Amino acid sequence: MHPMLNTAVKAARRAASVIQRASNNLDLIRVERKQHNDFVSEVDRAAEAAIIETILEAYPKHAILAEEGGARGNSEFTWIIDPLDGTTNFLHGFPQYCISIALEHRGQVTQAVVYDPNRNDLFTATRGVGAFLNDRRIRVSKTRDLSEALICTGFPYREFGKLDAYLQMFKDVLQKSAGVRRPGAAALDLAYIACGRFDGFWELGLQPWDIAAGSLLVLEAGGLITDLEGEANYLESGNLVAGTPKVFYQLLQTVQAHREG
Ligand code: IPD
Repeated sequence: MHPMLNTAVKAARRAASVIQRASNNLDLIRVERKQHNDFVSEVDRAAEAAIIETILEAYPKHAILAEEGGARGNSEFTWIIDPLDGTTNFLHGFPQYCISIALEHRGQVTQAVVYDPNRNDLFTATRGVGAFLNDRRIRVSKTRDLSEALICTGFPYREFGKLDAYLQMFKDVLQKSAGVRRPGAAALDLAYIACGRFDGFWELGLQPWDIAAGSLLVLEAGGLITDLEGEANYLESGNLVAGTPKVFYQLLQTVQAHREG
């Protein structure tokens, strides 16, 4: 395993033990509302501190972009961290959340870890080497047609300005696919595309820490991922479509038909 990926795995496991210890006493967790429907708990912060400490111990000069603490440092290497993707699920005791850590080198994501501590699913990827689940090579599913595809998505629950366009997309995809799911942790949604549990995914208004690691997993597993224009700008725009090579194009076309502007 690449030494930088190894550090990311170590950091994710440390964060997982912080999170899982806290999950036994959900009632005692202090929670703040960042904005409508957007929460941060002391657990997100403690998990993020554990990750950053582990990374900076190994690579003190690297830069950090983290969900709770924002950007710090200046380097050609930036670690993009979501210490607890699926905070709302976690706070409700719904066991669908994960830790997401990516390393970006000169603008390209090169290492990725998405770790689900409830299932002990450790997803990893290194650019040019492949994607893995618990050290076994993974690939996207062989599903070729949207009508046979299980699609997942995330609802725009904070920025309601996008809701009407989104609901049109949702209605259309629901009618054309084999089913739509909304599990609630975007990084895991992308990891599930990489290992073939889902065949396609789309969401609007995500943040780089929700997407960075999962996008490399999808690409290294043989999937496709773009923004809504079909371009590579998804980390910046936060809007994305992903899927198996065949399903991806059908899903992109379907959601593009309803996008604004
Ligand atoms: C959220 C999850 C969710 C997605 C939201 C994200 P967080 O991340 O990934 O699935 O729909 O847009 O913000 O806030 O729980 O880390």
